[in-house]
Amino acid sequence: MALRKIIKMPNSFLRKKASAVDTIDNDIKHILDDMLETMYNANGIGLAATQIGIDKRLIVMDCGLKTDDDHLEPNPIKMINPEITFLSKNFNEREEGCLSIPGHHAIVKRPDQVIVNYRDENFKQKELKADDLLGVCIQHEIDHLNGILFIDHLSRIKKEMILKKIKKENLNENRS
Ligand code: NI
Repeated sequence: MALRKIIKMPNSFLRKKASAVDTIDNDIKHILDDMLETMYNANGIGLAATQIGIDKRLIVMDCGLKTDDDHLEPNPIKMINPEITFLSKNFNEREEGCLSIPGHHAIVKRPDQVIVNYRDENFKQKELKADDLLGVCIQHEIDHLNGILFIDHLSRIKKEMILKKIKKENLNENRS
């Protein structure tokens, strides 16, 4: 396994719509393992292949799993070609961030519950119903595969504010 470089805003690759995976081979399994390692290393809870510069519909997540005694256990999830088949009419608001937009957070409104169809590492078709943090995470990561970032869900003013700050941060970085 190896750490991959996470690409950041305003890299235009983040705006790319990723291509579907048609067969699972060792390469794909390898990428998924690297993605999980890269995500944990960056203290993230989700990562899309687009964020490491790979044009494939792959996402990984770990929002933890509550045990009976209320502890949080690791719960790594790998999804190939994930597709949302149901979005609830109820919405929820939650603060989101993104490893490709480090240091910026904002409240995003999204459907409360999702059902997602995907293929697992053995290319077996699976379905998962999710809400709460995992529900948000799935929507956020699938957005990445479609070139959409959480800031696109904000009001124009809020989005512009974050984009302006990123521009300024990049200028300062190049100067130092
Ligand atoms: Ni993200």
